[in-house]
Amino acid sequence: MKLKHKRVVIIGGSSGIGFATAQLALQEGAEVIIASRDSEKLNNAKLQLECDVLIKQIDINDPNKLALFFKEIACFDHLQLPAADISSGPFLMTHTSVVKKTFETKFWGNYNAIKYAYPYIAKEGSITLYSGRLGQRPSKNTAILSAVSAAIEGLGRALALELAPVRVNVLSPGLTKTEFWSNMEETERNQLFEKISNDFLIKRAALPLEIAHAAMYLMLSTFTSGSTLYIDGGYTFK
Ligand SMILES: NC(=O)c1ccc[n+]([C@@H]2O[C@H](COP(=O)([O-])OP(=O)(O)OC[C@H]3O[C@@H](n4cnc5c(N)ncnc54)[C@H](OP(=O)(O)O)[C@@H]3O)[C@@H](O)[C@H]2O)c1
Repeated sequence: MKLKHKRVVIIGGSSGIGFATAQLALQEGAEVIIASRDSEKLNNAKLQLECDVLIKQIDINDPNKLALFFKEIACFDHLQLPAADISSGPFLMTHTSVVKKTFETKFWGNYNAIKYAYPYIAKEGSITLYSGRLGQRPSKNTAILSAVSAAIEGLGRALALELAPVRVNVLSPGLTKTEFWSNMEETERNQLFEKISNDFLIKRAALPLEIAHAAMYLMLSTFTSGSTLYIDGGYTFK
């Protein structure tokens, strides 16, 4: 029960890596609050977690709602920020307005969340931002994803300085089997996964729980701040 008497807030906790992190944090005795936009997804997540988890509907892109959200939650210990609503495409062929939303949620949404959360986070607490494998090693047609992930890693290091002693870290997942990929047709998705996996030392996609273990580490490791943890099956290294 390593998180007993601790409160963990996960914006983007209704699916994928955030949901898996909620599962592990609950197992370790934390009080967990998950938040995201879609109330149906939140209710399903609550049912699946089979635990006393608090759900809150919020769009991270709305600063006024964020301010109210954290005021209502009040004091807590750890903030996890896996919320992302991204789109990408070939640089020359994709209209800027299409890819702008990637920065709106994944960068500015999480940036604002930290701003409004900070007064309520315990001094020995932590903040975890999420980047992605392309931040260190881009691949073709993913300029916006490389850019946003690199920006988040820079933000994480800078905020670790500015918000200390609260610890700020970044988790960079590799390809992970989450709901993010669920709008693709299954065969197409499997083919894409197989193709991308070839670029990993561990030749497969991660399971959400494999990434969530790293999220737990970043909450529990009281001497880790300003780090980016690459849980990417060796993609960055290769
Ligand atoms: N999966 C991968 O292969 C992969 C690879 C590299 C990096 N990552 C990064 O890892 C993080 C988690 O990814 P994931 O695959 O677990 O994603 P996911 O399964 O798509 O989950 C995203 C979560 O964010 C919430 N969300 C999206 N937009 C939001 C908004 N505007 N306000 C509040 N909540 C919002 C979603 O719920 P609602 O839709 O209900 O709001 C959901 O709970 C992201 O930063 C992602 O970019 C993932």
